[in-house]
Amino acid sequence: MTTPFTTTQTGTPVTSDAHSLTVGADGPTVLHDRYLVEKLAQFNRERIPERIVHAKGGGAFGEWEITGDVSAYTRAAVFQPGAKGEVALRFSSVAGEQGSPDTWRDVRGFALRFYTTEGNLDVVGNNTPVFFIRDAIKFPDFIHSQKRLPGSGLRDADMQWDFWTLSPESAHQVTYLMGDRGLPRSWREVNGYGSHTYQWINAAGERFWVKYHFISRQGVHTITNEDAEKLAGADADFYRRDLYEAIERGEHPTWDIKVQVMPYEDAKTYRFNPFDLTKVWPHGDYPLIHVGHFTLNRNPRNFFAEIEQIALSPANQVPGTDISPDKMLMARVFSYPDAQRYRVGTNYQQLPVNTPHAAPVHNYSQDGAQRHHFNDPSVPVYAPNSFGGPVADPSRAAEGSWESDGALVRAAATLHAEDDDFGQAGTLYREVFDDAAKARFLETLTGQGKAITVDAIRERFFWYWSNVDAELGAKLRSEVAGGPAPEPVAAGTGPDVEPVGF
Ligand code: HEM
Repeated sequence: MTTPFTTTQTGTPVTSDAHSLTVGADGPTVLHDRYLVEKLAQFNRERIPERIVHAKGGGAFGEWEITGDVSAYTRAAVFQPGAKGEVALRFSSVAGEQGSPDTWRDVRGFALRFYTTEGNLDVVGNNTPVFFIRDAIKFPDFIHSQKRLPGSGLRDADMQWDFWTLSPESAHQVTYLMGDRGLPRSWREVNGYGSHTYQWINAAGERFWVKYHFISRQGVHTITNEDAEKLAGADADFYRRDLYEAIERGEHPTWDIKVQVMPYEDAKTYRFNPFDLTKVWPHGDYPLIHVGHFTLNRNPRNFFAEIEQIALSPANQVPGTDISPDKMLMARVFSYPDAQRYRVGTNYQQLPVNTPHAAPVHNYSQDGAQRHHFNDPSVPVYAPNSFGGPVADPSRAAEGSWESDGALVRAAATLHAEDDDFGQAGTLYREVFDDAAKARFLETLTGQGKAITVDAIRERFFWYWSNVDAELGAKLRSEVAGGPAPEPVAAGTGPDVEPVGF
């Protein structure tokens, strides 16, 4: 094969790869060196804004297959027995920037796309089944508290714990985060959770509430604080490398797809508010149902094009799946496409990784920066029309939506019998962590408590953990500060604290 000529972006062979056009051999560079100008200008525009959260990540592609039968709960083609197709999965950490070490303690993003015959279905979740807050209005504040101080540009334990202890609904997720799951051994060895309650609709139009679980066939394995710190220095891309190299070696990781299904009416009276993202549904109440599995077997061919530009969003639902009245989820449905229009550009859905691979696109949108798909010239660009343009699917209108049921929305907005901020966090600590995990948890929290420099915030830290578990709070006080823990106090209010400044 002959070596191709270097060309400009418009295909003209260039005269030199090594020398700019100058006035004589040693003279000044001239502005009309079009190739130089094009090369420098293109270089200056290589970056797009990193994701506002979950900036550091990696991902791969593969295939799903449905081996169970959940057709009683959803009519979605993606989940029908025997259905197969292509998936994309992006893993990430939350708080760090693009170059940050993979092994900093954090929640891990687990954002899965099914390219289905009815459009893209994205389940944009994490490796934990709950979240820090239950109202989207707190999300920017929460993220600010975990990222960097505006003045020094440093991350800061005082601000992290100030936010968490003033937002006690965070206790369940912070227990996961400070426990072993905060430090996975690899992305291949994490479970994924949709976390929110979603909705499924079957062929008869009956509706169900579902939670997605993706269980790693590699098992769940974690590393210690010490190993994580060493790895952060030795290889900032430890997880990205592990996934890439495993797939190149032919070790293709697989996850089982499972769901918990709650009958529609149960949502009104279930002991926990099923739309509260800080709560799990204990498996004894709603057992896991087998759906199928997916396997990652292809690395990205171009990291930027396929991973950096992938635009995953909880707004991407298909017929037979939908969102629920979870306030966080409703806000996310707005937030992700908004972020992606800014981050990637108006026509981001037309990029190869974002456009549906198995379903056609027909609508009346047109034009905009970087438009790539042509509108069919035989079809008008307005609706309604008399020329056979696309029309909405009447079966989707019949599907209806939860909005019609005011009683359910009201029930979703009220406290249910066992709703509180600390109960499930205490259960996780006492009943799920074994003794060794409890010891590692105490060690991690002791380090965290010692990093707090503001007395009032440290006092609230003891109050917070005493509410999760009185004995844990006592141990922490003696490890961090010496002395007994305060008596547990009512959830929802902290000790009176003076405002603190940074
Ligand atoms: C109201 C609360 C939330 C808001 C406003 C929010 C907003 C965002 C935004 C703007 C992005 C960047 C999207 C992009 O540029 O492509 C993002 C990424 C992400 N978020 Fe959220 N988020 C929220 C809650 C959550 C929750 C509860 C989860 C998990 C259950 C989650 C998981 C993720 C993941 C995994 C990504 C990275 C997606 C990818 O790999 O491209 N977020 N979030």
